[in-house]
Amino acid sequence: MSRIDHSQLQGNILRGYRFGLVRHMLLEVTDRATVRAFLGVAAQGGGAEVPAITVDQPPDKTWPRDQKPASCFNIGLTFAGLRALGVAPGDLATFPTEFREGMAARATKLGDFGESAPRAWSQPFNRPEQIHLVASIHADSTAELDKVDTQVSRAFAVRGRLDGYALAQDKVYFGYTDSISQPKFSHVKDEVEPIDPYGTVLLGEPTRQEGLKFGVPTPQVLGHHGTFNAFRVLRQHVTAFEQYLDRAATELLNHPDSALVLPLDAQFSDGEKPLDRHGMLREVVAAQMCGRWRNGVPYGSSPDTMPDPASVPLTEYDYGRGSRCPVGSHMRRTNPRGGAIVQRIANYTRRLVRRGMSYGPIHTEGDSEPEVGLLGNFIGASLGAQFEAVMCDWLNLGLQDPDITGANDPLIGANSSETSWFDVTLRNGGTIRLRGFPRFVSTRGGVYTFLPSMPAIRYLARLKG
Ligand code: HEM
Repeated sequence: MSRIDHSQLQGNILRGYRFGLVRHMLLEVTDRATVRAFLGVAAQGGGAEVPAITVDQPPDKTWPRDQKPASCFNIGLTFAGLRALGVAPGDLATFPTEFREGMAARATKLGDFGESAPRAWSQPFNRPEQIHLVASIHADSTAELDKVDTQVSRAFAVRGRLDGYALAQDKVYFGYTDSISQPKFSHVKDEVEPIDPYGTVLLGEPTRQEGLKFGVPTPQVLGHHGTFNAFRVLRQHVTAFEQYLDRAATELLNHPDSALVLPLDAQFSDGEKPLDRHGMLREVVAAQMCGRWRNGVPYGSSPDTMPDPASVPLTEYDYGRGSRCPVGSHMRRTNPRGGAIVQRIANYTRRLVRRGMSYGPIHTEGDSEPEVGLLGNFIGASLGAQFEAVMCDWLNLGLQDPDITGANDPLIGANSSETSWFDVTLRNGGTIRLRGFPRFVSTRGGVYTFLPSMPAIRYLARLKG
């Protein structure tokens, strides 16, 4: 039984809500007293004009079908937001550097340059000083989103809104099934090892590395059981991605070692229709880039065929020596599991909670194709030791293994056609190096937020001055 009081945690941290729609409202505090009053009511169960902040479920429980609320409401504050609400300078100084600086200032570490550079970010992310809060509403209908939106709009100056939705079958653009692997906390699932301790995500709790706790900002009531979130608006260049799969499949089809990529008698379908050899090689490239076949099956478990995801374990596997899942794949970079890596110990603390939904299409004049992408939340107790370390060391530099050092994540990395490369694994242990692919995911905006506990929200509501 967990000794954590789950009713004092915001509800979207330890588990996802599984609603079909989300709206993230980007808010500025222009009237401190009004916002404090709003937060006070929101953290005490809400009122006629104020939505209630949704709290975590009791251990081992999910909402019974008839008790699931029509919408869920949660908040994250930027550093500018904490300051705008009147947190004392001495306490503000106890927040970690990366959070105080904000996401835009960390652009180089995050691979946000060129078309992803903060100066090219869409409104209001190009004015980060105006974003004090991100309020996230989850629901199954736009009417429910609008209802909460109206309440929120009365207390804040709304600087932007981002609407997202779940694609059918948990897909994301690029065609992959997502939301399969997450850190597992003991109260959510206790039959699967290894369990990630709460300190991976909740400040003040022990992590999996003995003796390590991430620093808790002061005062205790504000920092304790809070966590940090990297909120990212990630544009996905779908046409470029599919065109590249065509090109890479043709290259592998004509390669003398083609039979080592996929046996010549291999036969599988995309779930609907049988694929020809070129079509199957496209899927192999997509699977090796991610680490999962696009239907969700771990590539390393079935490298020569794409089985039905219902027929294989989707999360219980490892990257042993000789795994066909490339060290450079997105999955292996972001969670190397038991595979040999340079930062073996750090791996235990770099787990990220991911909550994302797709967005778009947004039609912009002059743009070659409508914008689609992912509204991603990457949550953890330390932005620096978790999100930034994964983004920088593993996704974009490949420092975890000398075989990929200098190459970026093929799926989402800061690639350019001039320098990119990715090694496709072969059945005999060799590799074929693919080169010349562009960047498939670019950053359109983002902010770092602090997700406070319920007592912390009440503390913010009570601040004076
Ligand atoms: C548009 C951008 C992105 C796309 C399309 C994408 C896609 C995917 C897919 C398809 C999976 C496999 C599904 C699953 O295991 O749940 C996955 C897993 C994962 N991704 Fe991403 N991703 C994106 C951005 C990111 C970023 C920015 C990070 C972190 C900084 C990240 C971290 C992870 C992690 C930690 C996993 C789970 C790995 C595991 O536990 O084995 N992803 N992603």
